[in-house]
Amino acid sequence: MTQKFFGGGRGFSRRMFLEGLSSVGGSALLMAGMSALGFDIASAATAPPDLSGGGGKKVVVLGAGLAGLTAAYELTRAGYQVTVLEARSFAGGRCQTARKGFQLNELGGETQNCDFDDGLYINHGPWRIPYHHRSTLHYTKEFNVPLEVFVNDNDASYVMFEKGSGPLAGKPVRKGQIAADVRGGAAEMLAKTLKQGALDQQMSADDRDTLIAYLVHEGYLTNDLAYRGTEGRGFAVNPGAGVNPGPGKESEPFAFSDVLHSGAWKTLASVTGHEQQRTMFQPVGGMDRLAKGFEGAVSHLIRYSTKVKSFRQNDKGVVVTYEDEDGQTGKVKADYCICTIPLSVLRQMDVEVSKPFKQAIGEVAYALVGKIGLQMKRRFWEEDHHIYGGHIYTDNPEIGSMNLPSTGWQSKKGVILGYYQFGAQAAKVSALSPKERQALAGRAGDKVFEGYSSNIETSFSAAWHRIEHNLGGWAQWSDEGRQSAYPILCEPDGRLYLAGEHLSYLTGWQAGAIESAWQQIAKLHARVHAA
Ligand code: ALA
Repeated sequence: MTQKFFGGGRGFSRRMFLEGLSSVGGSALLMAGMSALGFDIASAATAPPDLSGGGGKKVVVLGAGLAGLTAAYELTRAGYQVTVLEARSFAGGRCQTARKGFQLNELGGETQNCDFDDGLYINHGPWRIPYHHRSTLHYTKEFNVPLEVFVNDNDASYVMFEKGSGPLAGKPVRKGQIAADVRGGAAEMLAKTLKQGALDQQMSADDRDTLIAYLVHEGYLTNDLAYRGTEGRGFAVNPGAGVNPGPGKESEPFAFSDVLHSGAWKTLASVTGHEQQRTMFQPVGGMDRLAKGFEGAVSHLIRYSTKVKSFRQNDKGVVVTYEDEDGQTGKVKADYCICTIPLSVLRQMDVEVSKPFKQAIGEVAYALVGKIGLQMKRRFWEEDHHIYGGHIYTDNPEIGSMNLPSTGWQSKKGVILGYYQFGAQAAKVSALSPKERQALAGRAGDKVFEGYSSNIETSFSAAWHRIEHNLGGWAQWSDEGRQSAYPILCEPDGRLYLAGEHLSYLTGWQAGAIESAWQQIAKLHARVHAA
């Protein structure tokens, strides 16, 4: 698979992640990282398994993230007796939304109390849903969670590359202008080369002429095969009513060489991967609406603020000991256990499993990921720059990309995603205090939009590798781990079944958690049914 700057769910993070790895660990680590991320398998399952004809058995589910909620919901519907133990005071796992009153205490850090204005929020965990993640969309539909479009690409938005050379480096440039000019410039070069007969040995005259016709069409070339700009890159003076400005004044294209040397063309493949589309989905009001949908159906089964202390099993059943928020300990006995605790956390816990299983739990790395939401007092990106949603791409790995909200169009305020960074850079930024992170994001934004930092009213940041109960954004399997540990963990160890995004080829996506749960409950059910 080709590397993309910002494409293909793992593609965009892939690029950032790989850059981070190469800067800290050299090429060996880089290669391991490439293997870890180098897969691209579509979401396959579209509906929950049929669990009819079983039930009655007791199942204890550890963790009320999307995998645990899915298991609890489907097993209960099939007649199982389910208890869910959840360490947090709310369900959803990483499916969280920070809005007024949301509290986050990072390990070793200060407590943040989100104080966004009413109605404003940031999805600091999952934030976009591809159209082909049928499993996620199954439950948004099931729980009547209204969806709206997530603008995942916007030609009007800026690319801000500082590391290139030439006059475009270090300047915010509209992505659509880069797209038009690099396409036009490349088409002109190739068309002229073809016309001169330079490739006549490689192709028939008919193919050559057809290719030239394609290039003229693709690059908006004139009859002499020159690219002189296109209205698609935007006008210098927009068309309007009356005689002046009449049909508009076309904008001058950038010099091809300047576009090439800016490096900004690296962003153009961002939405050509499998997992990233130009428009995606988001729940209206915040991603946690999905968790709340599940919660509406299964909250009576969940013991909140209850931490798992140990897991024991024998051929008769399982026993989970826990501690509740008052420090009281207790036990849940069940026939089976479905454990959705991230492996980054599970590996440190007292669980009775076979030696190979225990070893396999320790064989996966977790992503270092950071995001910050910045409440802006004015929607200057819409009002002054006419940008409605989409990403600001940068080549500053401390920032990665910024994102403009796909909701609240033309309202007064909005929350911008100020950075989305990975790997070593996420580790570095997460060492800063919330106020310092805000200042860092503000400085980067000032390079793109005048007055950016002075518009910031308040912020909320999350560094997933520093969040208790997660200790990482998502699982990152190496090729070797996929071969050795992954298949072991996909099968039960005695009466214990694991589930979560980490047990899928959709790591870092909610669909991975849901489909993994579907797979494991189907296995459990088949076993109960066969007994
Ligand atoms: N799936 C995650 C995203 O969309 C990683 O950013």
